[in-house]
Amino acid sequence: MTKIILDCDPGHDDALAMMMAVASPKIELAAVTTSAGNQTPEKTLNNAMRMLTLMQRQEIPVAGGNKTPLVKKLATAGSVHGKSGLDGADLPDPDFKPQAMTAIELMAKTVRESAEKITLVVTGPMTNAALFLRVYPELTDRIERIVYMGGAMGLGNWTPSVEFNIYVDPEAAKIVMNAGIPLVMAPLNVTHKAQILKDEITEIGKIDNPVAHAFEGLLNFFEIYHETPKWGFKGAPLHDPCTIAWLIDPDMFETELMNVDVETEGELVRGETVCDYYELTGKPKNTEVMLGIDREVFIKLIMDSLKTF
Ligand code: BDR
Ligand code: CA
Repeated sequence: MTKIILDCDPGHDDALAMMMAVASPKIELAAVTTSAGNQTPEKTLNNAMRMLTLMQRQEIPVAGGNKTPLVKKLATAGSVHGKSGLDGADLPDPDFKPQAMTAIELMAKTVRESAEKITLVVTGPMTNAALFLRVYPELTDRIERIVYMGGAMGLGNWTPSVEFNIYVDPEAAKIVMNAGIPLVMAPLNVTHKAQILKDEITEIGKIDNPVAHAFEGLLNFFEIYHETPKWGFKGAPLHDPCTIAWLIDPDMFETELMNVDVETEGELVRGETVCDYYELTGKPKNTEVMLGIDREVFIKLIMDSLKTF
């Protein structure tokens, strides 16, 4: 059993990752914290709570994170995730309250109260994770590893060479990547292979429970953005679920160990992740990078997860 804190910015794919964590007997979702990213911090917090309400898991503590990135102005992704951040389904309003503390306070409390080490899963910008590491350095060694979706090796989805999560808060990513904690990265190189096809979304709609029905709507909305010919996708790339899928069944991924750092300056490349595939720097191999995925196994895991509700 892996005990995790999910720090997310729901976001369609964040919501799917949360659902998989809730459904898996191999994962204990100890807390959910939210970051500003796909939408404003108020909306991502509300969305996390809407999802937990839908899944009837209101006992999982939730706290909202920092309102802005560490240095940059907040950029959001309404073009991908819609006005609410989770457009495409009628989700229930939250019927519980967030914790009366900040995201990093909830992270610290969860880590302190846990007998075992905690895995931090980050599926949004790394603002909260970086602040947590800076404010509570004494808790660093209570983190087993950080599994994150972000960055890419030679690709970009927000600028030509920069992925959205790292684009939003590159300074936070720099802190996390150089913290000395084992890292597992789901870059665009793997998440663009983790596509769900239209007919598979239709199959989800046939699973007879409210969670699956909501995801049919959410994924259809998410798929439409990615249908534009410029991406060349056959379906929608499920970025954030790769983190939870790796925790549940790492064998479905091909990974390589290497040093990964991030560029925080530069006119064209601020936020680009620099992946030392050929060991040119001699720097410590701080990151296990997912590069390949067995897509069929991944989709089956999602379907099986949805059937548990
Ligand atoms: C990442 O950006 C967000 O829009 C998604 O939720 C995912 O975390 C992909 O670049
Ligand atoms: Ca996300």
